[in-house]
Amino acid sequence: MSLKIAVYPGSFDPLTKGHFDIIQRAATVFDKLIVCVMVNNSKNYLFSSEERKNLIKENLSELDNVEVDTYDGLLIDYVKSRNTNIIVKGLRALTDFENEFQMALTNKHLDNNIETFFMMTSNKYSYLSSSLVKELVKFQGNVSDFIPANVEKAIQKKHEEGSIK
Ligand code: PNS
Repeated sequence: MSLKIAVYPGSFDPLTKGHFDIIQRAATVFDKLIVCVMVNNSKNYLFSSEERKNLIKENLSELDNVEVDTYDGLLIDYVKSRNTNIIVKGLRALTDFENEFQMALTNKHLDNNIETFFMMTSNKYSYLSSSLVKELVKFQGNVSDFIPANVEKAIQKKHEEGSIK
């Protein structure tokens, strides 16, 4: 039987506990999970793609079958280059559906072989987003429940440097 490889793409600017919850759960469903830090043209990023990648990597010591990569082209090209056709996405209760529906159908139109699987975020993270975290940090709100410790350290540093606009 062939290994089931899945790609979990996203901006991860930065990684939240909501993203990490999806990583942990998807890693139990697929033989191998590749988290791919990508570019969403509608966003300006606080962290570089290397920084975003490293912040994820530092949380993966207990997840042997998860790899992190970066790519700044089309998602379907990356997925094919990793010899798979499976995309995994997290879906929050209300906010994500329209955008994710559009992306999944566009990717399917570009390559009919691509399959997107959605995992519902756990209830406790259903309202969480990287943008919310950045706004809280900007105004000195407590974000320790929302992001891993290494991410908190890195984002506080960005705040001290005046990088959060
Ligand atoms: O975390 P995000 O910002 O919702 O992730 C969106 C992302 C980066 C997965 C999406 O913008 C993407 O796939 N970008 C790569 C370029 C691409 O393939 N665009 C067409 C998507 S239909």
